[in-house]
Amino acid sequence: MRGFWDREEKPYVIALLLTPILWMIYALFSGRYFPDPGKVLMIDSGVWACVFIVAVLCMSPATKYLRLRFLSRYRRIVGLLAFSYALFHLLVYLVLFAGLSVEWIVSDLLEKPYIYAGVSSLLILIALAITSTKKMMKRLGKNWKKLHQCVYIAAACVVAHLWWQVRSDITIALAVSAFIVPLLLLRIWQSPTFQKYFK
Ligand code: HEM
Repeated sequence: MRGFWDREEKPYVIALLLTPILWMIYALFSGRYFPDPGKVLMIDSGVWACVFIVAVLCMSPATKYLRLRFLSRYRRIVGLLAFSYALFHLLVYLVLFAGLSVEWIVSDLLEKPYIYAGVSSLLILIALAITSTKKMMKRLGKNWKKLHQCVYIAAACVVAHLWWQVRSDITIALAVSAFIVPLLLLRIWQSPTFQKYFK
């Protein structure tokens, strides 16, 4: 007999995990973000992208150490959502923050180097999203796992993106790093190279 955690619950899980983005869109169109929707939505969309990146990084340790094996079924969904929220963040940047002004974007690229760290992270997430299908998994064979380890590089880029832009308020950078840095250290500790030389 199929239980709640079997296949057919996936659409409900996806719908639940999409509520933040739907709320942000609703809040935008109902005027809650005014007078400066670009500024506020940049932060909200970025924070939600971070939440999903952290969730992806938690998947393996939670499956391995907490034996929450059912979570591995949601790895792809959560990864794709991290990508979608990051893409939404980019869209907010282009449309609301930069007002689709090429001049604005070019001057930002010259004056705000932290944007490159964000773009690098998004590019990795795009590559992972494109290769997340079973067909690509088969085609890439052993390299698939290696490629998908790049999610750790994407997460490191996010940490750089946040600390690089800090002016006075470090709350978001600190909160996100408090999750990502230990998860990155755990990954390094688990790596065969580390185990070989330091254990
Ligand atoms: C194409 C990629 C990206 C671009 C162009 C970009 C651009 C920006 C810009 C311009 C800001 C500053 C907004 C302001 O002045 O208030 C910002 C903030 C932020 N970004 Fe990104 N970003 C990118 C990717 C990412 C990714 C992949 C993440 C997370 C997964 C992220 C998370 C954040 C967060 C949380 C903030 C708010 C930080 C704070 O206020 O302390 N960004 N981003």
